[in-house]
Amino acid sequence: MATLNNNYDKNSPIAFFDSGVGGLTVLNKVKALLPNESCIYYGDTLHMPYGEKSKEQLLEYSDNIFRFFELKNCKAVVMACNTTSSVIYETVKDKYNFKLFPIVQSVSEILAKLPVTRLGIFATRATITSNAYQNEIAKYNKNIKVFGQYCPDWVHIAEENSMETTKSRDIIKRDLDKMLANNPEKIVLGCTHYPFLLDVLSEYSSKDLFIDPAIPFALHIKNELEKADLLTDNNNFHDLFYVSSNPENFKTAAKMFYELSKVPELLVF
Ligand code: DGL
Repeated sequence: MATLNNNYDKNSPIAFFDSGVGGLTVLNKVKALLPNESCIYYGDTLHMPYGEKSKEQLLEYSDNIFRFFELKNCKAVVMACNTTSSVIYETVKDKYNFKLFPIVQSVSEILAKLPVTRLGIFATRATITSNAYQNEIAKYNKNIKVFGQYCPDWVHIAEENSMETTKSRDIIKRDLDKMLANNPEKIVLGCTHYPFLLDVLSEYSSKDLFIDPAIPFALHIKNELEKADLLTDNNNFHDLFYVSSNPENFKTAAKMFYELSKVPELLVF
């Protein structure tokens, strides 16, 4: 976790970002643990899917978003995106003036302690090809064999809120069957959009098979902010939402994890 100084204001907001609605799966879990925190969420829907972008592109998009979060005086930024955590975290970790929480690096120690020897990871193409989960888990446990698989259609399915269509179900089942051929004892949903598909996945396999890293990640964030004495001491929380395109679509797709009271603000850098 990066930090340039310790002069953060405990009553400043926590920021989250992702390519779209996926990061709401993390925001939802953080809110459940820390209901009084003010949150800012940026969904970079214009540049979705991040999993198909180059490192240079991801650095450019996130630099704009991080500078915006600095202007908003955020005390912490949650990289609620496995793709940016996998591809650019090491490059940006000491560059900005807030505490930075990357999802992959924050949950890998917990995943490495799972009592399994065969672990599946569903994630984006960029996350899988970076080998970030494999490398991070191996730091703590070299005896787990990790099977990474990318599912190129799943992010769109979540953004279109089309999980229940026959076409989507066929795609989800096809990708799941491919992973199941590896006999994984657990499968990590290593893209924040994928928990939107959990109900459908659970129709084809046991729900217990799947791990949503947002759950241990939210606990990690809470513990770290607590240790740094950065949990808010007031309850006048205020949540703000921004997207870079299609605000109406975001509000509709968000519903499973966050009910927005109004459409998010359009903000393009
Ligand atoms: N939800 C993001 C992740 O966790 C990015 C998905 C995408 O836009 O490809 O990787």
